[in-house]
Amino acid sequence: MALTADIDPRVLRLDFPILARVGDRPPLVYLDSAATSQKPTAVLDAMDRYYVETNANVHRGVYQLAEEATARFEAARDSVARLVDAPREGTIFTKNATEAINLVAWAWGVRNLAPGDVIMVTEMEHHSGIVPWQIVAEITGARVVFAPITSDGELELDWITHTLRTEPVRMVSVVHVSNALGTINPVAEIARRAHEYDALVLVDGSQSVPHMPVRFSELGADFLAFTGHKMLGPTGIGVLVGRPEILDGMSPFLGGGEMISDVRTDGSDWAELPWKFEAGTPPIAEAVGLGVAADYLRDIGLGAVRAHERALVSYAFGALAEIDGLRIYGPQDPDRRGAPISFSLPDLHPHDIAQLVDRERVCIRAGHHCAKPLMRTLGVSATARASGYIYNDASDIDALVHALHAARSFMGS
Ligand code: ALA
Repeated sequence: MALTADIDPRVLRLDFPILARVGDRPPLVYLDSAATSQKPTAVLDAMDRYYVETNANVHRGVYQLAEEATARFEAARDSVARLVDAPREGTIFTKNATEAINLVAWAWGVRNLAPGDVIMVTEMEHHSGIVPWQIVAEITGARVVFAPITSDGELELDWITHTLRTEPVRMVSVVHVSNALGTINPVAEIARRAHEYDALVLVDGSQSVPHMPVRFSELGADFLAFTGHKMLGPTGIGVLVGRPEILDGMSPFLGGGEMISDVRTDGSDWAELPWKFEAGTPPIAEAVGLGVAADYLRDIGLGAVRAHERALVSYAFGALAEIDGLRIYGPQDPDRRGAPISFSLPDLHPHDIAQLVDRERVCIRAGHHCAKPLMRTLGVSATARASGYIYNDASDIDALVHALHAARSFMGS
């Protein structure tokens, strides 16, 4: 059943071969796209074709095959930059979002932070938005502070403003959509406030870029990190978008081939943006796949994706309310949240929930979701999490509800 006019998951599903695996009875119900999305045939074919038709190293060869490989790689950068309305010279390929955040922490943080400086993160950050800053704080003598959340799982904006006003905050690193709570954070407003106090802003868009319109030009942030495999692309590739004037002033993150313009015995000079931050042979086929994924999402329209997921979340809230004692974490208003829905049952551990619903071929995640500080704030060690995407519809939510009832019966509760 289509939940909105512009997306029919029954039709889109035909693009995703894994969802029709032979032998799956009942068919897979994949509700773990916050962990990784499935990949459409267009992406798989593009990567295959790259190896079959164009494989050569990029930016090095002068022969035609190498030029074709370079053209495909750089066209992928254009596709990704277009998707998030970013300047191509500020669109850097990394290994994943984690590496993108580490790039900023090391290349900007180590050189610019001083003892006493403050790095502001939030209680709902993924570990990748916390640990790089803790490491860099230890090296520089800076401090990491955590913006608290309300009982509804929203950021305490007054605390953020107060801290910006009263502490020497140099960097605000904030997740756009929480992978564990689903909260959509007002990152443009946070960036506006941070810039009033001359702090830079890094937005982790891992759970937003695949799911809603995100325009770097309008975000107001200095950096935007996201990853390929959550947005229909392959693993092994992520993206850091940065304001070119800031990236220009930063030293490289990793050194090696590709990122230099000259290497002498007395030192080296750096390549232009974005290559200054892309040391070594890049993940070429992965970039090609990600470029096609970005085009695929643009063809559907991120506004349509967001409307579909809002309707899916709204349907899920209604359906899950039927289950006695089920608690959903984070904002209860579908307008204020993205696709991930974290929940718990009083009588079943989240890991048992995930294992038992798998008996019905329903795939959900259970655990701390790489957000241990958040779990401590919530007073739990783990949650179960269902997260939908463009190929999920109401029938998948119904299957989850059915599987949860079955899990309870199985455990005799
Ligand atoms: N960060 C990914 C998740 O939330 C892996 O599941």
